[in-house]
Amino acid sequence: MSDISKLESDLLAAIAAAKDEAALEAIRVSALGKKGSVSELLKTLGGMSPDARKAQGPIINALRDTVAEAIATKKAALADAALDARLATERVDVTLPIRPVPQGTIHPVSQVLDEVTAIFADLGFAIAEGPDIEFDDYNFTKLNIPPDHPARQMHDTFYMAKQKDGSSHVLRTHTSPVQVRTMLKQKPPIRIISPGRTYRVDSDATHSPMFHQYEGLVVDEGSTLANLKWVLEEFYKAFFEVDSVELRARPSFFPFTEPSVEWDLRCDRSVPGKITFGTGNDWLELAGSGMVNPRVLDMCGIDSTKYQGFAFGGGLDRLAMLKYGIPDIRPFFESDLRWLRHYGFSAFDLPTLDGGLSR
Ligand code: DAH
Repeated sequence: MSDISKLESDLLAAIAAAKDEAALEAIRVSALGKKGSVSELLKTLGGMSPDARKAQGPIINALRDTVAEAIATKKAALADAALDARLATERVDVTLPIRPVPQGTIHPVSQVLDEVTAIFADLGFAIAEGPDIEFDDYNFTKLNIPPDHPARQMHDTFYMAKQKDGSSHVLRTHTSPVQVRTMLKQKPPIRIISPGRTYRVDSDATHSPMFHQYEGLVVDEGSTLANLKWVLEEFYKAFFEVDSVELRARPSFFPFTEPSVEWDLRCDRSVPGKITFGTGNDWLELAGSGMVNPRVLDMCGIDSTKYQGFAFGGGLDRLAMLKYGIPDIRPFFESDLRWLRHYGFSAFDLPTLDGGLSR
């Protein structure tokens, strides 16, 4: 074997055996660097006779090309291997359960809103929405509360500045204007539930200037108070996750219903700090309701000689406080993370009737 072919096979063997890029680089310098073995051979060409150079030139140049190519190929292979090794150590197993505990939590009002809509959807109600800034007309007049009616004073309203066209807006004081909006655009049969934000000038441990209500409306040819009672019973049973509930009806007054009924739920408060529903000797006031006043039906374009309906409404925050034992409404809207961590719900538990509401 000539010196050149021995050098070539030695270099190729060394290149093949190089363990990492640093070792490979050392081989490159030793062969192709300024004073490298191949470079030294190339230098000898200058001192050769033309004939010898003609014979040796292609051999030595071929040696340089072979070695350079082997180094480049090996370098790429080493880089691939290094990347594979890194990917292997940095691999994320997406099937692993999430740890540590997920950070965000669902606010109790959102949780209760999801629970309430899940229950009413199951009872065949559609979800309806209305704006927070509402026409005075929808919030009051079309609900049979004309201007100067004393019932307006019960509402501690946030009034907005009058518009140029004379119309006036309020921050809606209840979700009842969604009844008006629904009846104005939909013909019976109507079955809607409308949860949402409401506003009143009021603030203490159980009142917040911004709070949440839910509103129910059913209009059909034969809807009755008995249907209303059944709907509320089914709702409270599902919501408080008990097998039976007992409702007590009390006569009441709302301008938009006639007759009007307030409902109390039987409960047990004999253990301090704890409420149990369905049993006990106490009553808890939960909802206002009644048969929709025929004047309201007529004002909203529904023939009151043909159709009748019932409506009900109550506080969502209040439901959250009762179900989850939250004593004060104010922290609901203070964005205190400690409070949210304590009372919040896992973002992975969506309330469903078959999967469980609150778990
Ligand atoms: N809108 C009433 C309130 O804010 C609650 C209410 C009472 C709603 C009777 C109704 C109803 O739909 O029929 O206190």
